[in-house]
Amino acid sequence: MKFFIDTANIAEITDAYAMGMVDGVTTNPSLIAKEGRGFQDIIKEICEIVDGPISAEVISTDYDGMIQEAGKLAKIHDNIVVKIPMTIDGIKATKTLTEEGIKTNVTLVFSPLQALMAAKAGATFVSPFVGRIDDISSDGMLLVEQIVEIYGNYAFDTQVIVASVRNPLHVLDAALIGADIATIPYSVLSRLASHPLTDKGLKAFLDDWKKAEK
Ligand code: E4P
Repeated sequence: MKFFIDTANIAEITDAYAMGMVDGVTTNPSLIAKEGRGFQDIIKEICEIVDGPISAEVISTDYDGMIQEAGKLAKIHDNIVVKIPMTIDGIKATKTLTEEGIKTNVTLVFSPLQALMAAKAGATFVSPFVGRIDDISSDGMLLVEQIVEIYGNYAFDTQVIVASVRNPLHVLDAALIGADIATIPYSVLSRLASHPLTDKGLKAFLDDWKKAEK
């Protein structure tokens, strides 16, 4: 299973990369906007740090605009994956970009049939947003189960990125289902490493060590 980090923050990416927990990076317009810096500069800097797929999202909503933006983004670095919204124009753009050899990540996926269309269009990655589904009292991980099953039924190459991860259980469930990737915010990644019994046990060892003969 691969871990991507879901952030555009260089300090977070650098720290998680040092842990060996970053196989790739996903960004989106909201994450870029939070950084208060230029889009291209941020993406270039991420590409210098991480050797793995780096998702950068188009802003256009029409086919021609998406293709034009995708071309520019793909030129930044070989590792760029163009993130395309799950719309009819997005699916057309995914098909064209796949034919041109440009990697894509179809984003904002909320149904298994959307994911099926993304795979049929040749998407490299598909991103079901589990947290946002949970937010409306539905079951985000059920969607991931269904996508993994459908892709398995037909041996699609499209890799499933579990996105909109909000807590460690999302990562656990993604791993149990066998999703290819979870893209994880830095705050959740840090929590994966923590357990109160680890902290308690470590404290006890260190307290006992102070009393030991040396
Ligand atoms: C994924 O590619 C998205 O950037 C992200 O996971 C969205 O997460 P959110 O629902 O927490 O905004």
